[in-house]
Amino acid sequence: MSRLIVGVTGASGSALALEVLRQLSDAAVETHLVVSRGAHASIRHELGETGLSLLEAAAARVHAPENLAAPIASGSFSAGGMIVVPCSMRSLAAIAHGLGDNLLTRAADVTLKEKRRLVVAPREAPLHEGHLDAMLRLARMGAVIAPPVPPFYTRPATIEAMIGEIAARLVNWAGIDPGEHMTRWGETPPPLR
Ligand SMILES: Cc1cc2nc3c(=O)[nH]c(=O)nc-3n(C[C@H](O)[C@H](O)[C@H](O)COP(=O)(O)O)c2cc1C
Repeated sequence: MSRLIVGVTGASGSALALEVLRQLSDAAVETHLVVSRGAHASIRHELGETGLSLLEAAAARVHAPENLAAPIASGSFSAGGMIVVPCSMRSLAAIAHGLGDNLLTRAADVTLKEKRRLVVAPREAPLHEGHLDAMLRLARMGAVIAPPVPPFYTRPATIEAMIGEIAARLVNWAGIDPGEHMTRWGETPPPLR
């Protein structure tokens, strides 16, 4: 069984994190979840009072962001990579500068140093030079910078379908086949309404 770390930060888009966790579970991936303290407000706002519980229930293992002694803080932990979704500008900058100031940023730093796949889904608009600079630094370190932009060619009819397609691409970039969750170019899109 493969293992992946999923980091959830306080940017908007916690529904994407939930869908990523569910798709990874469908793909029989053992997920290790770390949710930043900053994410609690956005999760409550976007997924409701039970949002955090939903995320935790969708993960195989949950780690507290303060627990820098968790297995995922070490390069000796065998994981295929990490997805940070959604990724706030704060966490993006912290990862780009190797801060490791909580378990999420530490696990991302470890993922980079171990030359494993790090996929970040930064969510902010518009972007100033500091945001772009942090993204460039991370791209140069080998991270996949994957803003959660919808693939319109799949003609998603609902927000849920759009979330599913975006999440599937993050899963795919992390090296896991999202299977039927991802419509690939050349496959039949759903009929026009
Ligand atoms: C409802 C809500 C939505 C937010 N959306 C974003 C966002 O899209 N992008 C972002 O960078 N920060 C956003 N923030 C601000 C972050 O949560 C804040 O900067 C926090 O300190 C991030 O900490 P973390 O990276 O440790 O999670 C949002 C905050 C709230 C309450």
